[in-house]
Amino acid sequence: MTIKEIQEEIIRLKKEKDFCILAHAYQGHEILEVADYMGDSYGLSVEASKDSRKNIIMCGVRFMAETCKILSPDKNVYLPNPEAGCPMAEQMNLETLDEMKKKYPGYAVVAYINTTSELKTACDVCVTSSSAVQICSKLDNDKILFIPDPNLGNYVQKQMPEKEFAFFNGGCPRHLAVTLDDALKAKELHPHAELLVHPECRPDVVAEADYVGSTTGIMAYARKSEKKEFIIGTEHSIVEHLQYECPDKMFYPISSKLMCHNMKLTTLVDILNVLKGTGGEEIVLSDEVMEGASRCINRMIALG
Ligand code: 13P
Ligand code: SF4
Repeated sequence: MTIKEIQEEIIRLKKEKDFCILAHAYQGHEILEVADYMGDSYGLSVEASKDSRKNIIMCGVRFMAETCKILSPDKNVYLPNPEAGCPMAEQMNLETLDEMKKKYPGYAVVAYINTTSELKTACDVCVTSSSAVQICSKLDNDKILFIPDPNLGNYVQKQMPEKEFAFFNGGCPRHLAVTLDDALKAKELHPHAELLVHPECRPDVVAEADYVGSTTGIMAYARKSEKKEFIIGTEHSIVEHLQYECPDKMFYPISSKLMCHNMKLTTLVDILNVLKGTGGEEIVLSDEVMEGASRCINRMIALG
């Protein structure tokens, strides 16, 4: 089968079997072409909960499919490639969190959405890269234990110096690979370009940016900016999608190291196999995890 034939078969089967396909912005273009929605991890889950279809395929990584299931408990949610996990989301478990809580008693525990749903059951609230500043500033507690990404935490802390923060020594291995030297070299190479970065990048890289935001925030900024050139400080697919959408502008990757292999594990064939009932994994969470994690996620929605 050609790529086009696989895509046609996916589109036919998703209609016949009442499926909605979600694609995170880090997916390749061929997957975006068969998706009903493209967006960031939080936005996609909200779209899924509003959609009337009974079945959802989340093309992204496991924590995104879990968030989707928690926000749409009555729907069947599938992760097309069961191997697609986010290394950052797997850095902490209940035990490591417990140790940190003992070290920082009285701190509000704020979890980045890139965490397992099991971990969310033991956190006070979760945040996304686009809502972290707003939510942390609204918390009554002035002491915040921010997990697992110290880079996003550091970015948030800079906006509210009056609050005290404690961090876990984790982070996204892909964004951490980008150094200040990479950012300065890219700027030197493209002196007229604006630098747009995800807050998962190192603080010294973030300090060089003209704009800091989530994947969809970066895309929205580049679309409406009057500037013509941009250096993109997040996953490589964003460079490709923006170049495709805005052919009159130029987009350059900050570094060739910024590729998320986990996000790229999902293929069109994996999606087709879910639709045929021969592959993928249906997300099943215990009642305890559903209840505990939805409390954490619903608090984010209420404060965000
Ligand atoms: P967004 O929440 O911006 O989609 O980011 C998710 C992610 O994994 C970034 O590396
Ligand atoms: Fe996880 Fe980083 Fe990949 Fe995002 S880019 S899914 S944080 S490993």
